[in-house]
Amino acid sequence: MQQKFVQLAAPGVRDLHPYQPGKPISELEREYGISGSVKLASNENPLGPGEAALAAIKKASQHIHLYPDGNGFYLKQALAKKHQVPVEAITLGNGSNEVIMLAAETFLTSQHEAIYSQHGFAAYPIAVQAVGATARVVPALGLDHPMRRGDDLNGFADRVTADTRLIFIANPNNPTGTWLEAQRLKDFVASMPAHVIVIIDQAYFEYNDGAVYGDASLWISEYPNLIVARSFSKAYGLAGLRIGYCLSHPDVASLMNRVRLAFNTNELAQAAALAALGAHDYLEKARQINAAGLTRFTDFCDAHKISYCPSMGNFLLIDVQGDALPVYERLLRKGIIVRPVGGYGLPESLRISIGLPEEMDRLMSALPEVLELG
Ligand SMILES: Cc1ncc(COP(=O)(O)O)c(C=O)c1O
Repeated sequence: MQQKFVQLAAPGVRDLHPYQPGKPISELEREYGISGSVKLASNENPLGPGEAALAAIKKASQHIHLYPDGNGFYLKQALAKKHQVPVEAITLGNGSNEVIMLAAETFLTSQHEAIYSQHGFAAYPIAVQAVGATARVVPALGLDHPMRRGDDLNGFADRVTADTRLIFIANPNNPTGTWLEAQRLKDFVASMPAHVIVIIDQAYFEYNDGAVYGDASLWISEYPNLIVARSFSKAYGLAGLRIGYCLSHPDVASLMNRVRLAFNTNELAQAAALAALGAHDYLEKARQINAAGLTRFTDFCDAHKISYCPSMGNFLLIDVQGDALPVYERLLRKGIIVRPVGGYGLPESLRISIGLPEEMDRLMSALPEVLELG
């Protein structure tokens, strides 16, 4: 008789849907027999890797027969200096995704609840469900709100109970690009009871250094129940190496370190991240390309009456007025990979990452046809 392994799985895992990453270029080209495709699907940095990071990787590769420094001494020193926090406040993760998982493993059980927004980043439901905790999902702001589909902080506050342990807020959020204004969010953190830990996920922070939505890393010393997550995958251009971190009260970091795997971040990633922190020109270029690309794309959408959510990320969530999958398919045939977001409860939207100017040209010349705009 066929064994039903699903019945053996932990209850939270049984109904879990795995994270759906953007389609890799190699897969598209294999399937459609095409070449020269562009990927605007995973909010990666279109600049490619920075020279300083590549040089650091080359140097560090001399040591890959050895285990990495499980504590990431040099990277943590640099991050502590950058953020003016003690080294003990830092937890390194295999991408910031891992620090999200670590927080869930550390603070949630089947007795506990976590809160996140309806269109919040996909890692939150996975983390909460995997540990068997209960999710309280806050309906997003409506389409008539200036921050359409954004997080409703009042809704978050309303859902806090004695069993709440974690609140996940991406600022700015993915896939919507929306954000919460700094003072409003800070007041919200201040208003939370001591048994509730707020995670402010700022994976896209470096694109605009918190203009409007604030640098939550500066709030860490004030609020012991705050975790701020950051990533090297976006503006720093190191998505493939998998490295991110969070800042928190040292006691929170110490607890998260108990569940962290000993060698969760590797030597090459640590070295590249350290180099990336000092590569100011690369970061500036990434910012400029993104800001210019985002402005161009929103102007294009305005001109073609395509509605979208306001974005502070390196992507834009557009509405296609109907099922987004055929539009996604038509773009694939033209060698352009974007991201359908039906899994986020947004079946009529596509999330499009901001690419290089020539990649945006290609996208914008394809869109009127695939959207069947008159
Ligand atoms: C809001 C948000 N948080 C976290 C992550 C995870 O990034 P990483 O694990 O690559 O650091 C992403 C990735 O897209 C994201 O959009």
